[in-house]
Amino acid sequence: MRNLLVFILMVTAFSTTAQNTQKWWKEAIVYQIYPRSFKDTNGDGIGDLKGIIEKLDYIKSLGVTAVWLNPIYSSPNDDNGYDVSDYRNIMSDFGTMADFDLMLAEMHKRDIKLVMDIVVNHSSDEHEWFKQSRSSRDNPYRNYYHWWPAEKGTPPYRYSLFDEKGDAWKYDAQTNSYYLHYFSVKQPDLNWENPKLRQEVYDIMKFWADKGVDGFRLDAFQFAAKDVTYPAFPEGFEKNFVQYYAMQGDLHKYLQEMYEQVFSKYDVMSVAEGAGRNFQEAHELVDENRKELNMAYAFDGVDIPKRTGYSLDHFKTVFSRWDSAFAQEGWLSIFLSNHDQARMVNRYANAKPEYRAASTKMLNTFILSMRGTPYCYYGDELGMTNIGFESIDQYKDIAAINGYKKVVNTGGDVQTYMLDLAFGSRDNGRTPMQWDNTKNAGFGTGTPWLPVNDNYKKINVVAQEKDPHSELNHFKKMVQLRKDHPVLVYGKYTLLQKEHPDVYAYTRELDGKKVLVVLNFTEKKTVIQMPEAGNVGETLINNYDHFSIRKNEILLLPYQALIFELK
Ligand code: GLC
Ligand code: CA
Repeated sequence: MRNLLVFILMVTAFSTTAQNTQKWWKEAIVYQIYPRSFKDTNGDGIGDLKGIIEKLDYIKSLGVTAVWLNPIYSSPNDDNGYDVSDYRNIMSDFGTMADFDLMLAEMHKRDIKLVMDIVVNHSSDEHEWFKQSRSSRDNPYRNYYHWWPAEKGTPPYRYSLFDEKGDAWKYDAQTNSYYLHYFSVKQPDLNWENPKLRQEVYDIMKFWADKGVDGFRLDAFQFAAKDVTYPAFPEGFEKNFVQYYAMQGDLHKYLQEMYEQVFSKYDVMSVAEGAGRNFQEAHELVDENRKELNMAYAFDGVDIPKRTGYSLDHFKTVFSRWDSAFAQEGWLSIFLSNHDQARMVNRYANAKPEYRAASTKMLNTFILSMRGTPYCYYGDELGMTNIGFESIDQYKDIAAINGYKKVVNTGGDVQTYMLDLAFGSRDNGRTPMQWDNTKNAGFGTGTPWLPVNDNYKKINVVAQEKDPHSELNHFKKMVQLRKDHPVLVYGKYTLLQKEHPDVYAYTRELDGKKVLVVLNFTEKKTVIQMPEAGNVGETLINNYDHFSIRKNEILLLPYQALIFELK
């Protein structure tokens, strides 16, 4: 009995140490840039690497310590760079390898790390590998992709996320076979079961790591391994396709191999998109002793908001469950948006002019005060909003356009689809960065590839830099606060008053230091009663210029966000 107790104590001590081990990537504050939309320097309406270089002082001024760049490799842009035709070259729209080398050097000069997006669940159909692969059945590259010979009949149905018919098999007459594409028809899935393909990918990763990049984000990687016997899936599986596509076969083996060949040889961070189908799988991806990835990037948080709204209770439940599942081991990413989501303020808070600024600050306070590595998507520091397209012709995103065709073809409800797009389309989150109040918001001189939001005259960097109370300055303050207070990075999280309908309150605690975070998620004034109110010390953050505490009550203005030191 006593031995068992000692054992339990040891295990607890050991795992607590693992969780609190200091790592640069745990302390990182990541800024995500969608390069197409950040800054255009040559007037072609498309953001470019020179544009990023031009804005590095701005990025530095935010205080963020790392940049995650969406794909910048050569691509025919069926899915804006997520269809790579050459993994060792820069997309001509974005510039040259010389621009890249300069950008990386300039980032490092400023102590900013660079995380690259690695897109290897699939390539472009214009990649040389695929051109070879489709040319004949005995081509040496044939097995770099998934083929189904037509003489075997129609392949078992697989769902495609971006196909206008939803069909992931595409017939290719040249070899009388079908190829598999979980995403668009121009994004054939790579065959991870082929060791040669895997070696190619590790070599590509080493090519970038040798250049000095500091991390990798593995796009759609949980789908990479497949059961190549292609068993039939039950009817209607597509409604729940992640259950069938994620974490199949030898995925973990491939990650361990990648770790061995790439991650272990460089000081790079690693994160995959998606975190498996449950907490156990999430842990299997990131627990240190397994030697796979550094941090999990789970979707539950961005799946919360619906066009019809969401409940704060649900929000608290999701974030608290993930935190507690990772309280001892593993590490999480914290984010409310990215290039696959509409704007954060529209989805989680309130984009009405009277509440937009306060609610943006409140959401950024949340992201930057949780345990896990925070990711801020470009423009969210300003509270950029959804563009509000009304007609399908305005959309550029393949997911929106092919989704529309599918609804039309299957006699679905087009009106509802358009409302869903207006709320949630990825194009909402891809409009050009709003730099100033000049033409095109200072994005560039040419017509931008996606229109600038009309509100740029008011919501832009220059205006917000001047205003000490702006969303931007609040963001910078929060970043600095996180850097100054390790408790915000490593501290234990405790949810308070889960049942409070308006307020999300929690504490963070580390080595005897304790802070209280209080966030009003509503447009009402509200009040929360808590003994901690009688115990507050210094106010660390406030998105208004005042606040009221009466004995054991904290009174909150609409979307007020407060952080206090607790005595
Ligand atoms: C990931 C990316 C998304 C892309 C898809 C296909 O989900 O985040 O933008 O469209 O993979 O590569
Ligand atoms: Ca350009």
